[in-house]
Amino acid sequence: MSVLRINGGRPLAGRISVHGAKNSVLPILAATLIHPGEMTIHNCPDLRDVRSAIKILTALGAKIKREKDKIVVDAGTINCCNIADDLMREMRSSVIFLGAMLSRCKSAVISYPGGCELGPRPIDLHLSALKKLGISITEENGKIYCSVENLSGADIHLPFPSVGATENIMIAAMFAKGRTRITNPAREPEIEDLQNFLCAMGGKITGAGGHVIEIEGVSKTFDCEHKVIPDRIVAATYLTAVAVSGGDVLIENVEPSQMNVMCEKLSRSGCLLYQGENYIRIIRKNPLYSMGEIKTEPYPGFPTDAQALFAVLATQCDGQTVVRENIFENRYQYVPELVKMGADIKTCGRVAVINGGNCLNGAAVKAPDLRGGAALIVAALGAQGESIISELSHIDRGYENIEGCLSSIGAQIVREV
Ligand code: UD1
Repeated sequence: MSVLRINGGRPLAGRISVHGAKNSVLPILAATLIHPGEMTIHNCPDLRDVRSAIKILTALGAKIKREKDKIVVDAGTINCCNIADDLMREMRSSVIFLGAMLSRCKSAVISYPGGCELGPRPIDLHLSALKKLGISITEENGKIYCSVENLSGADIHLPFPSVGATENIMIAAMFAKGRTRITNPAREPEIEDLQNFLCAMGGKITGAGGHVIEIEGVSKTFDCEHKVIPDRIVAATYLTAVAVSGGDVLIENVEPSQMNVMCEKLSRSGCLLYQGENYIRIIRKNPLYSMGEIKTEPYPGFPTDAQALFAVLATQCDGQTVVRENIFENRYQYVPELVKMGADIKTCGRVAVINGGNCLNGAAVKAPDLRGGAALIVAALGAQGESIISELSHIDRGYENIEGCLSSIGAQIVREV
């Protein structure tokens, strides 16, 4: 079993570059299925979830070539639209293949997707939206059977702006007859990235990032190239690592405009931030002030994926911080591990109350899920003494070579296999 051994309490310094966004590349890889030709995707991180997506594409008959951060998908040879249970279970995003398979094959069989255990993760919004496009869906023995004769455009209102459901609809509606209009869609930057990719292959989609997305069905798609946007949660991981450990780091290959709400919290804590077109420099020298309440919300609100990272930061800020998790109900599994390191945190339902100012101490802790695991790395970097973090398979789902990246800015972190 691999572990990360971290010797904390050292300021970080230097430059670090952020890899492409996991939450962009996964729906984009799923969307490659709909075009019977060659698509080249740049800035693809080498992550466990990306490898899972490649396994699904390969199992469906696509040919994949991977060279550094470039993935070339030839989906001209798709010969099946069923995803086996073990592949579905590897990650939550496997559900995004549903819209793509229906677009391409008019039928699909999947089971319920896996992914981090963050509380119930239903797919009812995906299924009810797909039904509106004319798809018939039946469930039997844990399998979901979908088929459609002719996809037709529809008005779809999402009661909650689900990221995955918005993506599934956008992909499924690409070849639907007429216009599909999604009201209350998710507005995350990754939705805009998917729109750009689909438009690059010939789609007619407008409105991503806003309150209404319109998809005019097309009948033909084309070979295309696309560059995935930077991962704002990986960028937030480095920012909070510097905020907790102290130091001066230039974080490159980021889109600062996609990180406003997180940067505002960091500035409020007393960190100095300087932003350029594609970088953020963070300097932290002095003790940290309270950041105020943290409430997770759909974009452009505070991201649920950064909640654990900022909770760790709050343990080092003056006074009390209240965190309210509004998206996933079971996103505090990292708290008992953080308490082992000396943090003062109490949770009740969706709320966590953090009394800041306690010095963190190194400890042996387990990563409970992807972002909770990343938060424990950040805590260990700021803690006195040695920490050993296990259950790294969660962290490897979303971070490429995190130990190498953090070592390059002075962290003492090694992976022991
Ligand atoms: C995506 C991100 C994940 C992020 C989340 C919220 C990817 C690969 N993952 O996940 O990192 O934490 O957005 O920003 O992009 N819901 C339903 N029914 C549904 C779908 C969702 O009730 O059919 C609920 C979920 O249980 C959750 C909320 O809606 O409470 C948000 O889920 P959603 O936006 O769909 O998240 P994901 O797409 O799974």
